[in-house]
Amino acid sequence: MLSNSFTMSSITNGLGTSVRKAVGPKAKVTVVLGAQWGDEGKGKLVDILATDADLVCRCQGGNNAGHTVVVDSKEYFFHMVPSGLIQPKAVSVIGNGVVMHIPQFFEELKALEAKGVTDWEKRLLVSDRAHIVFDLHQESDKLREGGKGGLGTTKKGIGPTYASKAQRIGLRICDLVGDFEVFEKRFRGLVSHFQRLYPGLSTNIEEEITKYKHYAEKIRPLVCDTVSYMNKALQNESAKIVVEGANALMLDIDFGTYPFVTSSNCAVGAVCTGLGIPPTAVGNVHGVTKAYTTRVGLGGFPTELKNELGDKMQQIGREFGVTTGRKRRCGWLDLVMIKYSHMINNFTSLVIAKLDVLDTFEEVKIGIAYKHKGQLMESFPACVEVLDEVEVEYITLPGWLTSIEHCRTFNELPANAQAYIRKIEQITQIPVQWVGVGKSRDAMVSLF
Ligand code: GTP
Repeated sequence: MLSNSFTMSSITNGLGTSVRKAVGPKAKVTVVLGAQWGDEGKGKLVDILATDADLVCRCQGGNNAGHTVVVDSKEYFFHMVPSGLIQPKAVSVIGNGVVMHIPQFFEELKALEAKGVTDWEKRLLVSDRAHIVFDLHQESDKLREGGKGGLGTTKKGIGPTYASKAQRIGLRICDLVGDFEVFEKRFRGLVSHFQRLYPGLSTNIEEEITKYKHYAEKIRPLVCDTVSYMNKALQNESAKIVVEGANALMLDIDFGTYPFVTSSNCAVGAVCTGLGIPPTAVGNVHGVTKAYTTRVGLGGFPTELKNELGDKMQQIGREFGVTTGRKRRCGWLDLVMIKYSHMINNFTSLVIAKLDVLDTFEEVKIGIAYKHKGQLMESFPACVEVLDEVEVEYITLPGWLTSIEHCRTFNELPANAQAYIRKIEQITQIPVQWVGVGKSRDAMVSLF
């Protein structure tokens, strides 16, 4: 029988002194996660939290995500770069779980620079363990998406890169800035692998190698062991660290509406695996949801409104993807989904974004339960085929029929809008901490 005396007794370290308690993280990270299918408005909350943050980190995904931050009527678009970069004092970290297309990363920085984000070289760190998205990953994504069985991906090569990572044939940033001869050899191996799979793939190997020789030098000053960096930062009790989740729970490769999902984990576990920090370092987890539901691309959507109400949401909410420009499908808020999201992420609070989009709706509905073949479902279905067949039970609340864009306190919100928020809290049993009432940074109502 195994004895637990090892954990109970003191351990003698190499210097002969006794260690009674493991040293763990002293600070906690604040996490912002999407609770639906992405584009919930996480960018605005991250921007608010980043105002006094020391570190703002990305832990998964690539440039398939797209945060928008509006400051003084100026719109900043972020795809791969943490949106904390617009904060002059915060350091932005791209963690090991992120996949990076390096030329597009520098293009994004150039566009941010043109909007006045300067001095980023001093405030941006890239993990040496992050995987590289090559053009061949993007091309193969396009080839696959172009054929039958496309999933509606953003064609940014994110899925193929995570596949290379899982197959252990991927190349990482540490390979690029390490011995270039080794990088070159492994890159050639990767190209032949892809050419075997996709004979139509056109890769000019020599051109790519020359290109990456240049990028190795360009990215080198930003590269570091972000795992050690993060864990060192966590030793400072007063450190303010924000992690911005990209994509969202329903796009998580394990928990989302598979196969219409992204290729990374977007649930809270990704914070640990994508940054190399222990679970005890996770503090507040803010779940962001729109006041309604949207989804871009294919896949089941039980509360979808395939009618003029859905079109109205789409137009008022300007529901077009930041990355692809695709129209988003729209529907009522689905609390079955939010409760499922909460079960996995344990949100300490909810953020209801874009409540103002519902300002002109005479009544608003909330999906509260799913029925399948007449039976009430106990849990969120794993199969998309089942999700396609569920019937949603709704509650209907009266709309508020007035603009809420100017509201800055909960009490200023019309009674019916307050009732809508309270109903969400009551059904989900999660406190609502912020409500988004407009696009701009200050158009946010804080409840506590
Ligand atoms: P992904 O990372 O791609 O999932 O996106 P995201 O969750 O970061 O969404 P993003 O921050 O880009 O927000 C989506 C859009 O909603 C942007 O155009 C925002 O300016 C806008 N937005 C955010 N909050 C509000 C709000 O409360 N009201 C209105 N009207 N627009 C908002």
